[in-house]
Amino acid sequence: MTSKVTLTSLQCMKEKKEKITALTAYDYSFARLLDEAGIDLILVGDSLGMAICGEDNTLKVTVDEMAYHTGAVRKGVKRAMLVADMPFMSFHVSPENTLENAGRLIRAGAEAVKLEGASDGVLESAKRLVSVGIPVMGHVGLTPQAVHQMGGFKLQGKGIEAGRKIIDDAEALEDAGAFSIVLECVPVSLAEEVTEKLKVPVIGIGAGVGCDGQILVSYDMLGIPSDVTPKFVKKYADLSNVIKDATTAYIKEIRAEKFPAEEFCYTAPTRRLKAI
Ligand code: KIV
Repeated sequence: MTSKVTLTSLQCMKEKKEKITALTAYDYSFARLLDEAGIDLILVGDSLGMAICGEDNTLKVTVDEMAYHTGAVRKGVKRAMLVADMPFMSFHVSPENTLENAGRLIRAGAEAVKLEGASDGVLESAKRLVSVGIPVMGHVGLTPQAVHQMGGFKLQGKGIEAGRKIIDDAEALEDAGAFSIVLECVPVSLAEEVTEKLKVPVIGIGAGVGCDGQILVSYDMLGIPSDVTPKFVKKYADLSNVIKDATTAYIKEIRAEKFPAEEFCYTAPTRRLKAI
């Protein structure tokens, strides 16, 4: 195992222009595989609402669910930095409530939390969390928790004004103490500008190759079906068909009485059992 990924090592990677690799995970087994493969950062994303629970968006995900999945992922991760998403409305109600919710995710095993958006309230929350020693990752561009306001999962930052706003938001989050920013679904040129302007690492998703690193939803890139497959997702595997083919083979073998064959069965000395 190469050394544990920390805030310092992520910052060094930006400075040395080494790309940061990131994926989401929601359970122990997947997290362990991603970590063993050498991923730098694992995000317990609130995308679990869609990937795991089949919802149309992330809005129903609760702090309880995030804490539960973070605890499971924690057990599988040794090297990667582990970040957990603060779900919808878990960092807007009051400063006390924000601290309590972030504290639950940290106690569940996250090393940092991610907040979407850069409104004044979110910036205040970020500052507050950083001030008590909880590292914060920002998230600008397409912020799925604002799906209704954005009118769907759409490209952001298209015009000059919209692009300027995203740069301002990213800089404001950096000033508030964020150690890194996720930049989602924006034009490549805008992502390059944000990445150049910020001192902290910018992790892109649908933002082109110019960012300091890349993140994808693991289920998307492994080809496990979800109803929404954005243009920016590259499928590195087709696990849907692997799973379906294995299941079909299993069904066939049970029906043909080929499974379980002898090698999968236990034997006992029949005479002795009969004597009992
Ligand atoms: O919830 C999530 O998985 C995310 C990533 C897409 C960055 O926020």
